[in-house]
This record gives sequence, C-alpha cells and structure tokens, in this order.
Amino acid sequence: MTIQRRLALSFSLVLVLSLAIGLGLTYSHVLSKVRTETQAALNVGADSARHSLDVPGPVADPAEVLRGIVADFDGDRHLRARVEAPDGAVLAQSRPLAPEEAAPGWFYDLVHAAPERLELPLPPALAGVGRLILQTDSHNEVAEAWSDTRLTLTILAFFFAMVLVLAFATVKAGLAPLREIGQALNRIGSGDYSTRLAAPVAAELEPLRDGFNRMASRLEEMGHQNRALNEQILNLQEEERAELARDLHDDVAPFLFSVGADAAMIRQFLAKGESDAVGPRAEAIAEAVRHMQHHLKDVLRRLAPGALLDLGLPGAIDNLVAFWRSRQPGIAFEIEVSGDPIDPPLDAVAFRVVQESFSNAIRHGAPTTIEVTIDADDEQATILVEDDGKGFSGPAPTFGFGLTGMQERVRAVGGTLRVANRASGRGARVEARLPIRQRRPIEPSQSLEMPA
Ligand SMILES: Nc1ncnc2c1ncn2[C@@H]1O[C@H](COP(=O)(O)OP(=O)(O)OP(=O)(O)O)[C@@H](O)[C@H]1O
Ligand SMILES: [Mg+2]
Repeated sequence: MTIQRRLALSFSLVLVLSLAIGLGLTYSHVLSKVRTETQAALNVGADSARHSLDVPGPVADPAEVLRGIVADFDGDRHLRARVEAPDGAVLAQSRPLAPEEAAPGWFYDLVHAAPERLELPLPPALAGVGRLILQTDSHNEVAEAWSDTRLTLTILAFFFAMVLVLAFATVKAGLAPLREIGQALNRIGSGDYSTRLAAPVAAELEPLRDGFNRMASRLEEMGHQNRALNEQILNLQEEERAELARDLHDDVAPFLFSVGADAAMIRQFLAKGESDAVGPRAEAIAEAVRHMQHHLKDVLRRLAPGALLDLGLPGAIDNLVAFWRSRQPGIAFEIEVSGDPIDPPLDAVAFRVVQESFSNAIRHGAPTTIEVTIDADDEQATILVEDDGKGFSGPAPTFGFGLTGMQERVRAVGGTLRVANRASGRGARVEARLPIRQRRPIEPSQSLEMPA
C-alpha cells in the first residue's frame, strides 16, 4: 500500500471516529436541551396563565376570558393552549409560531420531547365553560437544534476535507523527489552516469540528493578511468606485441637463417667428403642456438614476469635487475633483503612496487643509483625503493596509472604507500608497508608435550 493511501486511511479513521464522538455528544446535548427548554416553557406558560386566571369577581362572559388567555399563547415557540368543552370539543386553540425551516422527520423522531399536557384548575368565576389545557410542542426547539447541528456538521465536514486535501498535497509534494530519485537510480543502473538530481527538495531529503549526486559523479569518474585504463591496456598490449615481433625478427630470424645455411653447407661438405670443414659450421650452429636460447629467455621473462616469483622475491628482483642492467649499464643497483621471508601473496605486491619504481626511476629520473631495501618481521614487510635521479617536480607527485596501480595493489592487502622526494639529497623515494597476516599458530599436535 502506498504511503499516500495509508495516510488517507488513518486520517479518515481519525476523522470518522471524531465525527462519531462529536455526533454522540451533539445528540445528547440536543436531547437534553429540547427537554429542558420545553419544560421551562411549560412552567413559565403555566405561571402566566394562572396569573391571567386570577379574576377578582364574577365574569360576564367566562368563555371570552378563556379565549383571551388562549390567544395570549399565539406565537409561542413551545406551548399550545386550548379550551376544551366538557364533551372534549375544542372551543379555542392558540396558534404556535411555525418554525422557519422544519427539521426533517427522522431528526424530529430522534430528538423530540414527548408532548406534556397540563390542565390548569379554573377559578369558580370561570368554571363551567370547559378545561384550559397547556401542551408542550418541541417542533420549534427541534428545528433550532437541527439548524445548529447542520451548521456544526458543515463546518466539521469542511474542516475534515481541508485537512485531507492538505495532508494529501503535502505528502504528494514530499514524495515527489523520491519518485525522481528512483527514476534517477534506474538510469544509473542502466549505465547513464551523467544523471544528476537538480530540483530543490525538502530539507530532510537534501543529504539523500547530495549523496546521490556524489555517488553519480564518482561512478562517472570511475567509468572514465576504466575506459582510459582499458585503452591503455590495449595500447600497451599492442606496443608489447610490436616490440616482441621486432625482437624476434631482428634477433632470432637471422640466426635461424644462419642455422639453415650452415646445415645446408654441412650437407654439401659431407656429400663431397670434406668432413674437415664440417666442424666450424657445427660450432657456428651451436653458437647461434646459444644466442637464440639467451634471447628466448629474455622474451619469456618479459612475457611472464609473475612466473619469476617461483624463484622467490629476491630471485625475481635479481632477474629484474639483470634485465635493466643489460639495458642501462650506467645505473648501479643496490639490493638489500633482510628479515623473514614474506608471504607469497605479498611477494607479488612487493615485486610490482619494485618493478614500477624501477621503470619510473629510469623513465623519469635518469638516476645513477637505485637502492632497494626489503625488510620483514612478524607484523609487516617494508619495501623501500630510492633513486638519486631528478625526483618529483612538485611537492606532491601527480599519480598516473603506474603509481595508482601500485597504490591499489598495496591497499588491496591492507598496506600503505608513501611516494615523495627523498628528505636528504636528490631523487625519489617509494615506501610500501604491507601488514603480515598472523602466521599460523602451532598446531596442537606440534606443541610441546608435557610430561604425564
Ligand atoms: N622516480 C621518479 N622520479 C621522478 N619522477 C617520477 C618518479 N616516479 C614517478 N615520477 C613522476 O610521477 C608521475 C606519475 O608516475 P606514474 O608511474 O603514476 O605514471 P607514468 O610513469 O607517467 O605513466 P605509467 O602509467 O606508464 O606508469 C610520472 O609521470 C613522473 O612525472
Ligand atoms: Mg610509471
């Protein structure tokens, strides 16, 4: 059920309940008022009639006097007066005031007071004509109560309608942004990260709108980064393949050609019986194969640097150093590994930190020395790579893909990365601290046995 419908239901319930209570109270009030008023009118009317009946001496026309008394009640709101002959015939009757607007029959039946009759004793001077009777009539009182009740009910109905309309409008306006947020979330879900919420919202929803916009901006940014990374990966792959093709073409193809040529010459020498000439050719073939083996190892190392970790971190770093030494003979590499061996998952992270730091130092810093210090204890491993090159140009380095990737790898294992210029002297300094998960405790079977 929608919030709007729920609200309408609870409001209606409260309104109907208060209406019922209001009606109950009004009913009992009207009931007692009709009775009190007609009773009071009867008392006052009886007093006034008694006063009129108080004639001092004999009267010439008693019937006329009684008719006069009855006529005094013409226009009365609650009483009828009449003179009845001893045989019951009505000799005279007052005309009560007709209500301006009569109450409907059902209302009259509900609240009217039963007519009350009062016969007034006549003095001897007026005796013999008949009986003077006063009788209550609640039509006027009921009509008045009906008019009051109708007014009250109209005001109540108007008030209830206003409350309902206002409550509906407020809830509708309050919930409108939620619908918009829902649609915006759907758009985000279908990949449209440019979606933003701009419309003003109620103060309570402002954090939701701002949070949504921040999330959308972050997603959009990450989408851009993802695309850029993908492009870079594709470019790198292309470059890497082109370089491998060039290397194979330049370094392997000529040796294969020379091996083929030497083998053909050996066949010719053997056919001519010149076996002395075979030795140098076979030696040349062996030399070419050695060269190709060496080159193949180089290519394999570039294709699968991770596999080098099978040698352990120090071995993998040695290989990396050998790779760069052969290309950058002017750079001195100083490697110091101490402490406990690092866990294998951290080995890979440590290796990537060293690998990218080497590439960065050589590409951007033109150093003469690169130092690597790796130390590990029970709690953490520290990997420090320092060079004496140009260092970072600004106070804080701008992260490219290399440093970002390094940071993500370090964070993924719960570590921290600090990249800055060296405090003393020239060059850059990259320090990664990787927490070591608690080494496995000694199994009970391995624990020291206590003497029985
Ligand atoms: N050892 C260093 N000496 C001097 N500047 C460095 C060094 N390492 C990084 N930088 C600077 O920091 C920037 C960011 O390095 P990062 O490795 O993130 O990206 P990159 O090397 O430019 O590109 P790539 O994404 O290919 O690694 C570099 O462009 C360079 O200006
Ligand atoms: Mg880099």
